[in-house]
Amino acid sequence: MDQYQIRGGRPLSGRVEIHGAKNSVLPMLASTLLHHGVSVLHNCPRLSDVDASLAILRHLGCRVNREGDVVTVDAATVGRWDIPDALMREMRSSVLFLGAILARTGRADVSMPGGCELGPRPIDLHLAALQRLGASMEQQGGRLICTRGDQLHGAEIDLSLPSVGATENAMLAAVGASGRTVIRNAAREPEIVDLARFLRGMGARVCGEGSSTLVVEGKVPLHDSDYRVMGDRIVAATYLSAVAAAGGEAELTGVDPSQFASVVALLRQGGAEVRCRPDSVWIRSTPPLSGVGCIRTAPYPGFPTDAQPVVMAALCRSRGTTVFVETMFENRYRHVDELCRMGANIRAEGRVAVVTGVDRLHGAPVQAHDLRGGGALCVAALGAEGETAVTGLNHIRRGYASLVEDLSALGADIREVNE
Ligand code: UD1
Repeated sequence: MDQYQIRGGRPLSGRVEIHGAKNSVLPMLASTLLHHGVSVLHNCPRLSDVDASLAILRHLGCRVNREGDVVTVDAATVGRWDIPDALMREMRSSVLFLGAILARTGRADVSMPGGCELGPRPIDLHLAALQRLGASMEQQGGRLICTRGDQLHGAEIDLSLPSVGATENAMLAAVGASGRTVIRNAAREPEIVDLARFLRGMGARVCGEGSSTLVVEGKVPLHDSDYRVMGDRIVAATYLSAVAAAGGEAELTGVDPSQFASVVALLRQGGAEVRCRPDSVWIRSTPPLSGVGCIRTAPYPGFPTDAQPVVMAALCRSRGTTVFVETMFENRYRHVDELCRMGANIRAEGRVAVVTGVDRLHGAPVQAHDLRGGGALCVAALGAEGETAVTGLNHIRRGYASLVEDLSALGADIREVNE
């Protein structure tokens, strides 16, 4: 079985460039369908979710080319509007293609994305937003068929929750809809800001990103574009947590730390020294951290649910207690049992997990059950005595393009073994 073998207990030191943000690049790849021409994305990470998106674009008829971290999509020749079940299953985010396919071709035929490792993830808000823009929906044997009349039309959309995916689907469909769309209670995540900038770079009229109200003037002519994807704030949060857990000092470049200020504040509260610049962050840590009271996940600018597992891993060896309240997803503590195998003292019930710091963690065979939970196991392993074998790498590869290389560059004893 493929695994990472990590021998912990040595401080980290060095500098790493953070790769492009998964959650920015996925909706951007879907957006390329809106333009009958070429879009070029720089800093596009090598991730299995990106590969799945490229496979969907090829299936739809796009010409796709990747050279290093540059991906070129020529969407002049889109001839299909369906996403096969196998591709939908490969990546839940394939639902992000719905709005763009509908705007481009007038219909879309996708399978219903089922539950996933984080618990049920409904798409009711995505569908309601598209309906407001004039789409009709029908379910046929596990498939979702969306159609529109002559064209989608601008509308006022009030989201009952600031869902990231629903905001993105609504934005993409609105770019192809005639007239003005206003999205209220929109998600404010930095990835939405990055997407809006990308769309503007191809000629779309979008404003208000980063606030709760987004305005899109649809059906303006689009043109070829070139865009550099921002650095991944969750990868940065993972590496900061790794240094906090193992000790040492490191500089992470190519990210804007104001986008994960809540994580930085937390690590400082735990005793790490963190200095921020506009496009880099530096950390020094001498474990143990101290417990930080209560961490409650929330939509941006609150504490990101995606950083909860990795910060929890860093706090396993803290002095004192930290209470986590996971408000975003139902099933996001699957790393807890694995961390306990390494000697952590964590009690999880429902949405609450209580971490009581222990003096030491020890290496153990552990399994990743989801992407950021997998990141958490690597963080804990770096602060543990002895060797940890992490399996479930398929989850980790969805979101970390160069984990082994990056942590090795920081002096970690980590290697990938493929059997
Ligand atoms: C995105 C991110 C994911 C991150 C999450 C929250 C991508 C590809 N993924 O996921 O990494 O953890 O934001 O920051 O960008 N909800 C509904 N109905 C809907 C849609 C969502 O009830 O139609 C609920 C979800 O169950 C969840 C909450 O809204 O409880 C937030 O989900 P959402 O913001 O939509 O997350 P994703 O876009 O799936």
